Amino acid sequence: MGVVVPIDESRPDPEASLADLVALVSSDMERVNATILSRTGSDVQMIPEVANHLISSGGKRLRPILTLATADLCAYSGEGAVKLAASVEFMHTATLLHDDVVDGSDMRRGKVAARIKWGNEASVLVGDFLLGQAFRMMVEVGSLKALDILSAAATIIAEGEVMQLTAAKNTGTSEDEYLAVIRAKTAELFAAACEVGPVLAGRNGADQAACRDYGMNLGIAFQLIDDVLDYGGTSASLGKNVGDDFREGKITLPIVLAVRRGDDGERAFWRRTLEEGDVSDADLATALEILRRHGALEDTMDRARHYGDMARHSLAGFPPSPMKHALLQVVDFCIARAH
Ligand code: IPE
Ligand code: IPE
Ligand code: MG
Ligand code: MG
Repeated sequence: MGVVVPIDESRPDPEASLADLVALVSSDMERVNATILSRTGSDVQMIPEVANHLISSGGKRLRPILTLATADLCAYSGEGAVKLAASVEFMHTATLLHDDVVDGSDMRRGKVAARIKWGNEASVLVGDFLLGQAFRMMVEVGSLKALDILSAAATIIAEGEVMQLTAAKNTGTSEDEYLAVIRAKTAELFAAACEVGPVLAGRNGADQAACRDYGMNLGIAFQLIDDVLDYGGTSASLGKNVGDDFREGKITLPIVLAVRRGDDGERAFWRRTLEEGDVSDADLATALEILRRHGALEDTMDRARHYGDMARHSLAGFPPSPMKHALLQVVDFCIARAH
């Protein structure tokens, strides 16, 4: 007698949802990776060492893939998209170096974080170097519009990270305040990465706005899922430690929902652990139990699905094409992903 293994047909394979897009941009992406490697060079030996530690650990390269894809969606053919895609990934890499210092994180992309190996100072400074290189590449591309969009994104990301400092450890943070933080710190770069594609192609404002909206909504969904994975994922697949948000006292949507739905005893628990930083090993399990009791992780995923739907709708005006189809599928990846 065989054992029946139930297969959940409704759950798409997340990797398959990304595969089409990766395949469609693969030749340009090779050039992006070559550009990235060539631009980490410096006579100051520590700079390529630190930068390559992070860059060679992989990462999904989702944002530069989106730049190449939206440029192609708008029928762009030229050299600019590769350089702008590399710039976008440099901005992202710089943000990660800085973010791990701010968050005191020990692990990134499956490796020990750069700040553990070389120190906080080196991480901040090499992040600054990469940001500088990103802007030099944008200038080489020569689109003032693209430079405007990406430089605005750089300031907004920093605003988001600073906003989060204020919201951190405040269990009274509202859903709107949380959304403002993740729009700025994460979704803005997705939006900018997608907006510069049609800009390079010289497309009209409607196409530009549509791609921007797609990126913004996708980015919000992406961060919502990231916040769920911090409680429900595994360190091995994520490449960063799970439970970091709780230990740092970071207020993410699952917490906002659980605090709102909780009783006095639970609110006292959240205040002690998140606000006062009095966290024991057993507290993470208690936190998970409370989150489950209130359906906080499932409801956060529901909101991610909602933003995913909005991302899909944003592309409604584009005629059917393999690239459009692949961009629609990436929404499924961002929601079902485990890494
Ligand atoms: C990590 O982004 C930072 C967040 C916005 C959550 P990614 O999950 O895209 O990181 P890599 O580039 O694949 O490592
Ligand atoms: C992600 O920040 C967004 C930025 C890097 C600006 P988080 O702190 O939420 O993401 P992880 O968990 O470190 O990747
Ligand atoms: Mg972090
Ligand atoms: Mg952070």
